[in-house]
Amino acid sequence: MSEGIVKTAIFPVAGLGTRFLPATKATPKELLPVIDTPLIQYAINEARDAGVERMIFVSHPSKSAIERHVLDDKDLRATLRERGKARLARELKEAAIDEDLHDVMFVMQDEPLGLGHAVLCARDHVLPGPVAVILPDDLILGPKGCLSEMIAAYPTCDSGHLVAAMDVPRDEVSSYGVLSVLSRAGRMIKANGMVEKPSPEKSPSTLAVVGRYILDGSIFDALARQAPGVGGEIQLTDAIAAGIAESGLSGFEFSGQRFDCGSKQGMLAAELHLAGQDPAFDAVLDRFFRTQSSPTAA
Ligand code: G1P
Repeated sequence: MSEGIVKTAIFPVAGLGTRFLPATKATPKELLPVIDTPLIQYAINEARDAGVERMIFVSHPSKSAIERHVLDDKDLRATLRERGKARLARELKEAAIDEDLHDVMFVMQDEPLGLGHAVLCARDHVLPGPVAVILPDDLILGPKGCLSEMIAAYPTCDSGHLVAAMDVPRDEVSSYGVLSVLSRAGRMIKANGMVEKPSPEKSPSTLAVVGRYILDGSIFDALARQAPGVGGEIQLTDAIAAGIAESGLSGFEFSGQRFDCGSKQGMLAAELHLAGQDPAFDAVLDRFFRTQSSPTAA
């Protein structure tokens, strides 16, 4: 029933990644790996699994390495095959976006005017219908992709906008967009407001929005009208909130585990989580975490 309703995924990837300097001086933060897979790859895999047709990367001229990562590199694959590494060549092909199956577009956001502005940059390139926005910093791991879950649930909410939501401690709400909750039915939350980075005292709830959105096409007009908000930036949250009367807004409590890979702590947590699921890391985890003796002890 929900098959094919969300045809476009927008990936805002123009940010400078200052929190990870100096690692991000020459390497886009979206290419930082969790174990051996760059953040952007997890985001692409999630969009692909959710059945989108077009992927739009809102990037920056200084981040052309993203383009090189996401597209197929036939020369590199040929070299690998010549050197007897056919399996690696196959894995690279599978990871790259197949342009026979998906449209890929790169749109430049030359100035850091905010997440809302980044989404607006994609306006002229989206396919008809609701669009997905994926923030690669928010790594969501679980048996089912977060975007797939949201698309499956989308027809059951009577809102044009559906955002991924999770409960956070009250003293952390000022890092997020936060929902004002009207009612709940299972994992679906009907919201009548959304505020960007409220103070803990003023926050309408502790239900934070994380980086997966399904947005009604009306978002682009709302963004074009939107004045700068928190941090002097055009906030996606403000444009969503401004359109609630027209489009409605729901939150969706996804089943996966979310890692804030925009922070060093979140990145480390994601690595440990994945390492804990792979026996290849047993010895190193035992050495550092699972034994009483200090790793530095002789
Ligand atoms: C952005 C959004 C915010 C959302 C957050 C999720 O903030 O503006 O509403 O809750 O992503 O990660 P940022 O983390 O870019 O400051």
